[in-house]
Amino acid sequence: MSQRLVTERLVLRPWHVDDTPAALEVYGNPEVARWLSPAMGRPQDPVAMRLLVQQWVAEDARLDPPAGRWAIDRTADGALIGGAHLLPLPPGNEDLEIGWQLKPDAWGHGYANEATYAIAEWAFSQDIDEVFAVVRPGNTRAAATVRRNGMIWVGETDKYFGLTLQVFRLRSADLDRAAPHAHPPPRFEAD
Ligand SMILES: CC(C)(COP(=O)(O)OP(=O)(O)OC[C@H]1O[C@@H](n2cnc3c(N)ncnc32)[C@H](O)[C@@H]1OP(=O)(O)O)[C@@H](O)C(=O)NCCC(=O)NCCS
Repeated sequence: MSQRLVTERLVLRPWHVDDTPAALEVYGNPEVARWLSPAMGRPQDPVAMRLLVQQWVAEDARLDPPAGRWAIDRTADGALIGGAHLLPLPPGNEDLEIGWQLKPDAWGHGYANEATYAIAEWAFSQDIDEVFAVVRPGNTRAAATVRRNGMIWVGETDKYFGLTLQVFRLRSADLDRAAPHAHPPPRFEAD
């Protein structure tokens, strides 16, 4: 079950089936769905979205910390603005991959940056040395986000998900706590 993470402006918490309508606003948006890896069919209605959320809830229950799938709530208005994950990367399942999906009207505020920081701090507190991000070529926003967080370019590969992907790595020392947009440490809370 995902660890609840509280940052300056966000709460990252486990998904619940009641999140379906808000999740559809995120994952049903073509500007979000087109960049996901593994590539997934865009959920087009609440029934499809509910099934997906149910799968995430079930998957989350099986994951070993620090892995997880989080819904992201914005504290200011309580709105669900997206999701994030830290998941073992197939085929080896040795590396942990961080990813995020925000609804477009929540882009440009540094929320993915803040979520990355929180998830990475959480992972590094659990004996994990490094996390990875995989970005589809052309996804300039995601590439900017990973670099903003201090992630380092590793290379391009087609070994994950049958897609050509750009791989970035983040180690604890790469998280630049002195950067202008750096965030104070998240709080790890029991649910
Ligand atoms: C990838 C994605 C999460 C990035 O969202 P984002 O809001 O651009 O990401 P960031 O959190 O890094 O925000 C950066 C922007 O916020 C601005 N910003 C404002 N306040 C900020 C703050 N406190 N801290 C950091 N950045 C801040 C930055 O200047 C930057 O602005 P710019 O886009 O005009 O250059 C989003 O585009 C998305 O959901 N895309 C679809 C799904 C996807 O591609 N996921 C990646 C693969 S899993």
